[in-house]
Amino acid sequence: MKILIINGPNLNLLGKREPEIYGTHTFEDFFRELSANMHHMQLDYFQSNHEGALIDRLHQAGFEADGIVLNGGAYSHTSIALADAVAAIPAPVVEVHISNVYERESFRQHSYLSAVCEGCITGLGLEGYRLAVEWFARRYHKARKVEGKE
Ligand code: DQA
Repeated sequence: MKILIINGPNLNLLGKREPEIYGTHTFEDFFRELSANMHHMQLDYFQSNHEGALIDRLHQAGFEADGIVLNGGAYSHTSIALADAVAAIPAPVVEVHISNVYERESFRQHSYLSAVCEGCITGLGLEGYRLAVEWFARRYHKARKVEGKE
């Protein structure tokens, strides 16, 4: 099965950026560990600070991946275009936020992505990505069993 994790703007700075909110781990280190424990699946990672590049990657992966984990960063709160891209693709998408956006500024408490995603995990740190990937794995195997393929 194929799962893609997409991180939006400023998330390339994890580990250095506001560590009291986002922690001290780089995403690259976290992703290496996660991949090592998920060898039964093809797990990929993409990050961009550019709205159009995120949309292009959603279009590309959205017709072949079994699931996409998306942290749109601040674009979650501003981008109808990113939400339209999620709605346009058949791949299921889970929204993740590292911080608990509901205990922060009010402008972080609305996400255009939530309504077009399967679900949202917020405030559980990097663990949120792992939970989203595990949820996709369980969902995939359940569907395969129903289809008699496993
Ligand atoms: C974030 C929360 C957003 O409000 C913020 O703009 C980010 C990161 C999170 O992961 O907690 O860049 O998506």
